[in-house]
Amino acid sequence: MQHKTRPQMPNLVPANPQSIARAGRLIAEGRLVAFPTETVYGLGADATQGRAVAAIFAAKGRPSFNPLIVHVPDMTHAEHHAVLDSRAEELATRFWPGPLTLILKRRPGSAISDLATAGLDSIAIRAPAHPVARSLLLAAGRPIAAPSANRSGRISTTTPAHVAEELGDAVDMILAAGKTRYGVESTILDLTGERAVLLRPGAVTAEEIADVIGPVDHADGDPDKPNAPGQLLRHYAPSTRLRLNAAMADPGEALLAFGPDPFAGRHAKTVLNLSETGDLTEAAANLFAMLRQLDAGGHQGIAAMAIPTVGLGAAINDRLRRAAQPAEAGDG
Ligand code: TXA
Ligand code: MG
Repeated sequence: MQHKTRPQMPNLVPANPQSIARAGRLIAEGRLVAFPTETVYGLGADATQGRAVAAIFAAKGRPSFNPLIVHVPDMTHAEHHAVLDSRAEELATRFWPGPLTLILKRRPGSAISDLATAGLDSIAIRAPAHPVARSLLLAAGRPIAAPSANRSGRISTTTPAHVAEELGDAVDMILAAGKTRYGVESTILDLTGERAVLLRPGAVTAEEIADVIGPVDHADGDPDKPNAPGQLLRHYAPSTRLRLNAAMADPGEALLAFGPDPFAGRHAKTVLNLSETGDLTEAAANLFAMLRQLDAGGHQGIAAMAIPTVGLGAAINDRLRRAAQPAEAGDG
């Protein structure tokens, strides 16, 4: 295979006050910015804009919608989006800003897009310590959803060059600030239950956490439990029966439509269209919120029209398939 010399990446820029201000405007406009944190580089978007969050999944080529970590400047901002109990407050006081992500109950009415939390009632949240990340959060003036800045199935990136290699033009700007300090992702601690559970080890250790809040369970300490955070997740599942690849809704069913078909919903009481123009980014951004709305409507069933399996369509279909399974089947 022949390798052409790549032109200098036009979107890779050294982080300075001017570029950070520009990056903040890009985020506010719904664009993607890769930025350094003290752990690894993140691929960031405005967490309150569903379409911007959908663009993250498209850029990563993720075949499924994992919930993302929402980055905030501090504990006060975290409280807008999550419910912090005394354990969370003590840990945030001790370790934020820093490499600790807390899984908390999502605050009802929070502006975070349902796609960022994959429709869950919990939210992963952290205040990063890296000065560039902090300045970007202030410049953007909104919470930033960011997974690690790598393509799906590949390792996290710790240098601007690696980010450029992984994501290239799929990202609007890469804020370059050298190698990240820790090089491993943040510690993830689940505080949604009575006992704290370590979902992912990281720079903040279980011992340090236990010193503050007492005993911590380990997700991988139990051989019956898978140890990857993604696998432990309960996925969003509506309680209303969901029928996939429907050509049209039956009487009593609500329709989750896709595309401009004017007939599919003629028997349906309620029709919500993921995207009338067949735009998969728009459909991804609407997916969880529309499923929730239809689920709350007291319908006998929800008929979902077929979604093409290209691009983001693969992840949309993955989530629809899971949502169509009985709740006990779990995430696998
Ligand atoms: O250091 C880090 O944490 C980096 C920087 C950019 O902040 N981010 C990062 O994000 O590693 P990501 O998406 O690669 O990993 C986040 C993990 C995923 O495994 C996801 O399943 C889990 O956090 N997660 C997110 N929300 C969750 C939730 N509500 N419950 C359980 N796990 C969750
Ligand atoms: Mg990752």
